[in-house]
Amino acid sequence: MTATKLDILFVDDDDELRAGLANYFCQLGHRVAQADNAESALEQLQSQAFSVAIFDLVMPGKSGIDLLGELRANHAETEVVLLTGEGTIEKAVAAMRLGAYDFLSKPIHMKQLETIIHKAAEAGRIRRENRQLRALLKHSAPKHRMIGKSPAMQEVFRLVERSAPSEKPILIQGESGTGKELVARALHEASTRVDKPLVVINCAALPEQLLESELFGHEKGAFTGAVTAKAGLFEVADGGTLFIDEIGELALALQPKLLRVLEDGSLRRVGSLKERRVDVRIIAASNRDMASEVAAKRFREDLYYRINIMTIPIPPLRERGEDVLLLANHCIGSGWELDPDCREAIRQYAWPGNVRQLINAIERAKILADDEMLLKENLPPEVLNRAAATLPSTDGDLASLTRARVVQALQQQQGNKLRSAKTLGVSRRSLYRLLEKYQIEPHEISG
Ligand SMILES: Nc1ncnc2c1ncn2[C@@H]1O[C@H](COP(=O)(O)OP(=O)(O)OP(=O)(O)O)[C@@H](O)[C@H]1O
Ligand SMILES: [Mg+2]
Repeated sequence: MTATKLDILFVDDDDELRAGLANYFCQLGHRVAQADNAESALEQLQSQAFSVAIFDLVMPGKSGIDLLGELRANHAETEVVLLTGEGTIEKAVAAMRLGAYDFLSKPIHMKQLETIIHKAAEAGRIRRENRQLRALLKHSAPKHRMIGKSPAMQEVFRLVERSAPSEKPILIQGESGTGKELVARALHEASTRVDKPLVVINCAALPEQLLESELFGHEKGAFTGAVTAKAGLFEVADGGTLFIDEIGELALALQPKLLRVLEDGSLRRVGSLKERRVDVRIIAASNRDMASEVAAKRFREDLYYRINIMTIPIPPLRERGEDVLLLANHCIGSGWELDPDCREAIRQYAWPGNVRQLINAIERAKILADDEMLLKENLPPEVLNRAAATLPSTDGDLASLTRARVVQALQQQQGNKLRSAKTLGVSRRSLYRLLEKYQIEPHEISG
């Protein structure tokens, strides 16, 4: 650690003390500068980048606090360590709030000051690095990586931007394949926890007991097979974010444990009495309607209120208008094209498996395509003609078959157009077209 050569500025009106400090650090091999007042310090800061500035809180003329203010505003690369005399601790604490790295009370212990200076320099380095990383991330901010121009998706992006900086839990709701995990990642990346881990757990993927020890950890011998102690994912995510996917699948028996972490950050590993504390931001996702899970007593109401402080609903793909074509075009990649009929088929289909289904369909179509043009025939059969798979068995021509199928779907859905369109695998718009084309009357549906 002492190997790092630092540029250090000492600012103190006490000539003897300042010279002593400067001398000491100079002998350690650091590059040292001095100033006996704030003005001269600022001048030097203009002309040279210091990694750490050490200054006295009380000086004649401009005070250490004023200097700190200017320094924080204009010389962000310099970390500040304050020296305080007796009775000025309170001021020093205030200075910390203004962005000083640390303070040290006089009389100064050289070793202690040395340690603080190195720590401050390291903190500055990390801060710069993070700033660079964040600047890089800005270019790939969620709205750029998540495709969507529809008003419905713009609203999602707005909610992500709004809620990311908060520490509060977030519940993401949406059908399968709508991009819940992508939104969770975007939230983490736009949060202050971006340098800390984002840990993902899927409640549907593990049986209850395993899920418990994954989440909360366990002690050695807590259960058969627990040959060593293990930290749970809450501990792994400490300081960062835990994404709990499919939270609707969380067993009732585990829900109180999750509630406790949400309430005060405390948890116990399985088989342990020791209380541990973690600082974890929780993002949960579900493709079930959590309110009805609560009504059905499958999910605790108190836990629901805790995680439902802020909800981000992700619209299904079929409600995003032209986004489906944007996504399809993005997904085929450069050099490829969609034939007009293929575009139309993509636009018409209801995509019950949402973006994931679309991506898979395109990937598959690319394998089947002869050249770099996707044709309608290259799309999976369910996309082309989902209704045909479940056609009622009459032996009429295609038109009357289709007509019969549409009437049947509407009857089954009590005339609900949106749901009927969904079961038919067509958009609502094309359902209306079908109603018109086949002149289907309301009395046929209720009959
Ligand atoms: N708006 C979008 N732009 C680009 N890609 C997207 C978008 N939404 C989703 N995707 C992609 O679609 C796939 C499915 O997304 P994701 O896994 O986030 O969905 P999910 O809602 O978590 O699904 P499930 O409920 O099945 O877990 C991923 O490959 C993801 O990258
Ligand atoms: Mg998911």
